[in-house]
Amino acid sequence: MMPMEEALTLAKKRRTIRNFDRKPVNLDEIKTCLEIAATAPSGADMQPWHFCIITSEAKKIEIRQACEQVEREFYDRRISEVWRQDLKKLNLQVEKPFLSEAPCLIVIFKQLTHEDQPGHWIPNYYVNESVGIATGFLIQALHQAGYAMLTYTPAPIHFLTKLCGRPDNEIAEMILVVGHARKGAQLPELEKKKFEELVDFFE
Ligand SMILES: Cc1cc2nc3c(=O)[nH]c(=O)nc-3n(C[C@H](O)[C@H](O)[C@H](O)COP(=O)(O)O)c2cc1C
Repeated sequence: MMPMEEALTLAKKRRTIRNFDRKPVNLDEIKTCLEIAATAPSGADMQPWHFCIITSEAKKIEIRQACEQVEREFYDRRISEVWRQDLKKLNLQVEKPFLSEAPCLIVIFKQLTHEDQPGHWIPNYYVNESVGIATGFLIQALHQAGYAMLTYTPAPIHFLTKLCGRPDNEIAEMILVVGHARKGAQLPELEKKKFEELVDFFE
């Protein structure tokens, strides 16, 4: 087993990457990472997740175009001033070249309901929490496999259901952009919370 100090050192190396090169991913490794994600706990073991793995150039371009249209509307009309200020330090743009340049997009879907009998749909439990945990497992596994990633969340995100041919009971949680960092990719300087700020012990 990896000593915990080593695991921490590796975890601290993960950063969100927004500039990717075109080197392909190894699909066998991606599959193993998805199997690790699927070991996540879920409310009443509903496993309310589905993953679409996109490496087709045409599909990536289709997704990029749809996302940029949503982004344009978001920045023009929907974003609040506070949100705009919070995003300033990240220097985000409407154009999302990483969606067509990165070798692999994983669209993570959450299943809001399931069919317990034909035609009878009931809500799943703790869907956001469960899919969030599975996504965390996936990110950590991909990081351990040596991949760079971006957790990308266009808002609204509903259009991805149809674009990925998924049923109406599913809504995308995010697009996980997966690949390798481009040489010289710039990272914003971020100040992480100190350990003492984020933990209380009751011993
Ligand atoms: C739920 C979630 C949504 C995010 N959405 C976006 C996004 O739409 N675009 C983007 O460039 N980064 C997005 N990020 C990345 C964050 O900006 C990033 O994780 C944060 O700035 C911390 O940086 P780090 O991951 O390098 O530690 C998102 C992260 C999370 C967890």
